[in-house]
Amino acid sequence: MTDQTLSGRTAIVTGAGRGIGRVAALALAGAGADVALASRSKDQLERVAGEVEDLGRRALVVPTDVTDREAVERLVARTVEGLGGLNVLVNNSGTIDSTPLLEQDPEQWDRVFDTNVRGTYLATRAAGAHLVAQGSGKVVNIASNFAFKGVPGHAAYCASKAAVVSFTRTMAVEWAPHNVQVNALAPGYVSTDLNAELRDDEEAQSKVLRSVPARRMGEPEEMAPWVLLLAGPASDFMTGETIVVDGGQAAR
Ligand SMILES: NC(=O)c1ccc[n+]([C@@H]2O[C@H](COP(=O)([O-])OP(=O)(O)OC[C@H]3O[C@@H](n4cnc5c(N)ncnc54)[C@H](OP(=O)(O)O)[C@@H]3O)[C@@H](O)[C@H]2O)c1
Repeated sequence: MTDQTLSGRTAIVTGAGRGIGRVAALALAGAGADVALASRSKDQLERVAGEVEDLGRRALVVPTDVTDREAVERLVARTVEGLGGLNVLVNNSGTIDSTPLLEQDPEQWDRVFDTNVRGTYLATRAAGAHLVAQGSGKVVNIASNFAFKGVPGHAAYCASKAAVVSFTRTMAVEWAPHNVQVNALAPGYVSTDLNAELRDDEEAQSKVLRSVPARRMGEPEEMAPWVLLLAGPASDFMTGETIVVDGGQAAR
């Protein structure tokens, strides 16, 4: 790897065991960062840690449920102690529910909001205390282009990602004087476990892809350059923004 723009930096990636989070962690490591890997699945994190180490960087595996305040605070403390600092937080952990509202239990709604909104809030709060105190840092929130759309059966997911976009704006303004940039990435359909059901259903998939001008799903690797941009010096004068990367879906 020749890009070393994050050399000497330390990042936390939540949901780093698979999908977009795994690719984000490897991209950050490829650009020179040491990475703390968090999610609930230790075995997945350990596999990704091996891949980070293969890139010549240090990896710290910290099994974490992002909805648990103490666990998230422990994640930040262990990162600062174990990797010697913290510069970047990627709030990537997320979950979806595809139940029409009148068939959905409130517990299903809460699970989506707890993971996508409370998880992002808790990690931003815990990491932010460190970033603000040191007078520099980056928070990269993984939202979704569903934040800007009405999608039947996805009220909780859409509203939760709209909350992430709004939270991004406020934290950007609140922390800009402290030189902490807070931005978001809003992917469209990306081929991961999150939409495995859709990928297994050819008819449903071709219906969905008719709404995507590129007529295909994105690959997790196609998110990596945008995470790097928002995690590195290219975004030093950019804050509160959400970059949509969705094969043209939002442009229709
Ligand atoms: N794929 C898409 O089409 C798409 C589109 C737009 C936005 N996104 C967003 O991209 C992000 C990554 O999703 P993905 O597509 O890569 O899906 P994925 O492969 O299912 O990954 C989701 C990650 O979040 C973690 N996670 C879920 N609940 C958690 C919790 N309570 N605590 C800690 N970690 C938790 C999962 O790990 P554990 O289950 O092991 O904890 C997993 O590592 C999400 O925020 C998602 O909303 C995805």
